[in-house]
Amino acid sequence: MGLDVHLEISRARPGRSLEEALRAAVVEGRLAPGTRLPATRALASDLGLSRTTVAAVFAQLTAEGWFTARVGAGTWVAERQAAARPGTVASVRRPGVRVDLRAGIPDTTGFPRREWLAAVRRAAGSPAADLGYPDPAGTPRLRAALAAYVARTRGVVVPPGGLVVGHGFGDLLLLACRALHDRGARRVAVEEFGLASHRALVASAGLEVVALRVDQDGAVVDVLDDEVDAVLLTPAHQFPTGVPLAPDRRRAVVAWAQRTGGTILEDDYDGEFRYDRRAVGALQSLDPGHVVYLGTASKALAPAVGLAWAAPPDDLLGDLLAQRELSGGQPSGLQQLALAAFLEDHAYDRNVRRLRAVYRARRALLEEVVAAELPGCEVGGLPAGLHGVLRLPAEAGVDAEEAITRAAAARGVLVETLSAFRAPGPADPASAIVVGYGGATPGQYERALVVLVESVRAVLTG
Ligand SMILES: Cc1ncc(COP(=O)(O)O)c(C=O)c1O
Repeated sequence: MGLDVHLEISRARPGRSLEEALRAAVVEGRLAPGTRLPATRALASDLGLSRTTVAAVFAQLTAEGWFTARVGAGTWVAERQAAARPGTVASVRRPGVRVDLRAGIPDTTGFPRREWLAAVRRAAGSPAADLGYPDPAGTPRLRAALAAYVARTRGVVVPPGGLVVGHGFGDLLLLACRALHDRGARRVAVEEFGLASHRALVASAGLEVVALRVDQDGAVVDVLDDEVDAVLLTPAHQFPTGVPLAPDRRRAVVAWAQRTGGTILEDDYDGEFRYDRRAVGALQSLDPGHVVYLGTASKALAPAVGLAWAAPPDDLLGDLLAQRELSGGQPSGLQQLALAAFLEDHAYDRNVRRLRAVYRARRALLEEVVAAELPGCEVGGLPAGLHGVLRLPAEAGVDAEEAITRAAAARGVLVETLSAFRAPGPADPASAIVVGYGGATPGQYERALVVLVESVRAVLTG
């Protein structure tokens, strides 16, 4: 069979641990789609398990869609349909999924290839001195171009030490958390709704994560006290509930930071996209001495660009760069030069304007369809960003969320429940579906909304 994959099997729970190990091997890519699995008899004998145990595990993973089986022929790792997104991998792999309406996935179909190529060409023509090891904070040209961009578009007050460039939001969040931990921080408050991968990143820096309640005015920051050292917020457009942090809460969280010496980590992942008015500027401008502003090219350009930026308070800059050194490397210098050229040409602005029009129309369609077709439901949150929240009627019942996502998935449309983003712990049922409007290709979106409406109706009317 020739298949050599490391599988950690617990003797106490052999079936369960084999199932988890195989699922993890598929998620992590150690077992690639299309790989033929060994016969149950051979694997059972390799692992010292009974054949019945292995066959039951194969049947379970086949039923879940991880494996495909043909009677008498064998079992294979199933082909995947959707692109991976951090934090949600385990919940999404289902065969037959054709349209991806998960939150946070941008539309890359209109990626400005010609302008990006021109920027890459300019980067490759940079003087030899620019092609050496990049400055750990980022290449000066990109840092300057980004500083101008975030000051102009998001009102960020660029600190004297300038910006730090990273591989992505998660990279910079991790560096910031490690730097804070080294300075004695122990507890970080994180909005109760968010990506599990971000909570895990914070925890991996040795920090205790405490969940901060979110209501219609955003994170409930007035409960912060001096037991908390930092808070991670999405003030412009709470992810994923979609509400903005209310003005009095923006002031209150800054007052907390000033009173206690705490740090605010501002995740401005989609701040460029607001459709009903001009976007509210970054919270960071209220007090650049206590806020680490974090932006990313993933939503406004494409995740494949793989670049993000932080504007840290000056007294954190040195510690952040020390963590950059310890992390083993910084983003590619050539990629940074290309993004610098792209920004200098204002191609980045043009792309944001183009995407804003695309997303504005998709958001409007979601609102129209829900208003017309789903009485009792509404699209919550701001007209902003790349996703909306479809709130179900109060009487929908606790199982409706899950049932709707299952019904939609069965018809090839992938959406997630709001509850899927909630930190573990006791909480009221959320009863909402998060609908991303970036991941569908043009033409797919309208059909996917029809499927979603029919799925909601089918579940709500029993
Ligand atoms: C809440 C939130 N913050 C930040 C990001 C951006 O992260 P990255 O720069 O790693 O793509 C995302 C992307 O999904 C997000 O949903």
